[in-house]
Amino acid sequence: MKKPHILSFEKYDQADYDALDALFEVHPMPASGNPHDLPTTIRDQITAFAFKGHTSLEANLIDAFPNLGLIANYGVGYDTIDVKYATSKGIKVTNTPDVLTNDVADLAVGMLIALSRDIVGASKWIQDDKWGHSGAYPLQRTLTGTNIGIVGMGRIGQAIAKRLQNFDMHIHYYSRTEKDTPNCTFNSNLLELAAAVDVLIVAVSGGLDTINIISGDVLNALGPDGLIVNISRGTTVDEDALIELLQNHKLRGAALDVFENEPNIDKRLLTLDNVLLQPHHSSGTIETRQQMGALQRENLAAFRAGEPLITPIN
Ligand code: 8YV
Repeated sequence: MKKPHILSFEKYDQADYDALDALFEVHPMPASGNPHDLPTTIRDQITAFAFKGHTSLEANLIDAFPNLGLIANYGVGYDTIDVKYATSKGIKVTNTPDVLTNDVADLAVGMLIALSRDIVGASKWIQDDKWGHSGAYPLQRTLTGTNIGIVGMGRIGQAIAKRLQNFDMHIHYYSRTEKDTPNCTFNSNLLELAAAVDVLIVAVSGGLDTINIISGDVLNALGPDGLIVNISRGTTVDEDALIELLQNHKLRGAALDVFENEPNIDKRLLTLDNVLLQPHHSSGTIETRQQMGALQRENLAAFRAGEPLITPIN
């Protein structure tokens, strides 16, 4: 059987690339970002995208492939894909939920503890040979018994709550609807939630509905002792307001895995000593990325075989 043609975006690990290559005729997206740099004969044969990354996938790209039937996203979030337009053209979209939930929740918790106890700064204190010369490291802040506000109580938010309950923290959350999450306090007002907690963890999906949902007002309500952890999307937090508050110590600290402009993040963040930064890496383990690649391929293979998709979103 002839291999169907697909378009791949960004770089895949060799194992993922080989697995895709075994099933499909893989054409990389031209480095120019212009699909019209591919010959029309190729574009006409492409029936699916193996999408990866966080650039926007909109009408102009979709329209360049007249026989496109599936956009298989490598990732749970699909905020940069114009799903509405794809749906209007009869194109299916899939993502990779569940397989990354635990790793993302682990990193959120790890960043929270590292930020509150300044684990990175304390390690540097030793490496800079200050322990012996300058004495003990400044005292940090406990997390036990604190109030945590999780923004977005989907799969990842719930996995974070489950972990933090074991640390004897009190979990409050903001979500569109109340969830069946025992021992977690629902609050439908984000400003009230921020005022009631010591830490905000942003785990809400990205997209038009959640742009700057963590506004300057929400951050101000969190207060000067407040911490924020963001593992969702850079678009969900008003980054200018956040940086200004951090610069003026009107917020204690921020742990950020995601940014408005990735990978060229706002340079002001590099100068702050009250941030902990990660390069959008919450799903970045060998094991999880293998499962994400496998689920993406299962969706592509199901589409090719005319079978029901595994994890459709439209
Ligand atoms: C990325 C993510 O997919 O799943 C998501 O929504 O943001 C990440 O897991 C990963 O960085 C690959 O682009």
